[in-house]
Amino acid sequence: MNSKEQISHDDYQKTADWLKSQTKHRPQVAIICGSGLGALADKLKCQDSFAYSDIPGFPQSTVQGHAGRLVFGELKGKTCVCMQGRFHMYEGHSLCKTTFPVRVFKLLGVETLIVTNAAGSLADGLRPGDIMIIKDHVNFPGLVGMNPLFGPNDDKFGPRFPAMSGCYDKGLRSSAMEIGKQLGVSELMQEGVYAMVGGPNFESIAEAQLLHRLGVDAVGMSTAPEVVMAIHCGLKVFGLSLITNKVKHSINTYEDSDSVNHEGVLEVSRLRSQTVQQLVTELVSRMETN
Ligand code: 6GU
Repeated sequence: MNSKEQISHDDYQKTADWLKSQTKHRPQVAIICGSGLGALADKLKCQDSFAYSDIPGFPQSTVQGHAGRLVFGELKGKTCVCMQGRFHMYEGHSLCKTTFPVRVFKLLGVETLIVTNAAGSLADGLRPGDIMIIKDHVNFPGLVGMNPLFGPNDDKFGPRFPAMSGCYDKGLRSSAMEIGKQLGVSELMQEGVYAMVGGPNFESIAEAQLLHRLGVDAVGMSTAPEVVMAIHCGLKVFGLSLITNKVKHSINTYEDSDSVNHEGVLEVSRLRSQTVQQLVTELVSRMETN
């Protein structure tokens, strides 16, 4: 699974240097857009945009609803780089490929990473269309050794044993909740714990029950590897999950015939796309950057 493939500092540097040669933007903030949430990139002013397939060293995105473009531009006076479409472990990428852009962002001078995703809810109080500010995560693949930091440590990026406590920045989380109030959407918002599973299948009922009993609030197939990589190299992190569906976790639902599907996930995320964009835009606007 964790192939022996190693990406050297030089490989990240080459991609960063190529991007620097192609755009004048020097981003302070990087935003990874989840399923159906890529429209934020279209809001950037003075855009320079690159198809992943044109960027040396970049992996390719294969999922419907993920465009596969890196967009640079200005958002509320801050220089941003936006991933329209992310890479997932289930696509068959090694985790160091999945997280490749994060270290490139670091080399471009990015200070803060914002990650968004679509996720299923296990918490009673989280309904489809709600926005969960991620306060912590359970990195299931990471717990069993599928971690982008596996292998020799690159001290130029960060320490061998990085701490993951407090990885979702407290200041940014409270700022987001405050913005939610001001936008009049606070009834849609709460903090919670995100669990990453490998996918690509959605959970069985028994698996969902396990997650529920563990106290997980939302489940998805991304985000944790990028966050681990970002914290390792000293980036500030903010994450949110757009809840697209309820995950059935009761054995009473064995008789039900309806089940979650990717189209339904995309539909809900597009429905709330505007609100998520407003929230992220305002968060970026209030961010203190160097
Ligand atoms: Cl229900 N499960 C997972 N693993 N990912 C999801 C989801 C569910 N809904 C959206 N993304």
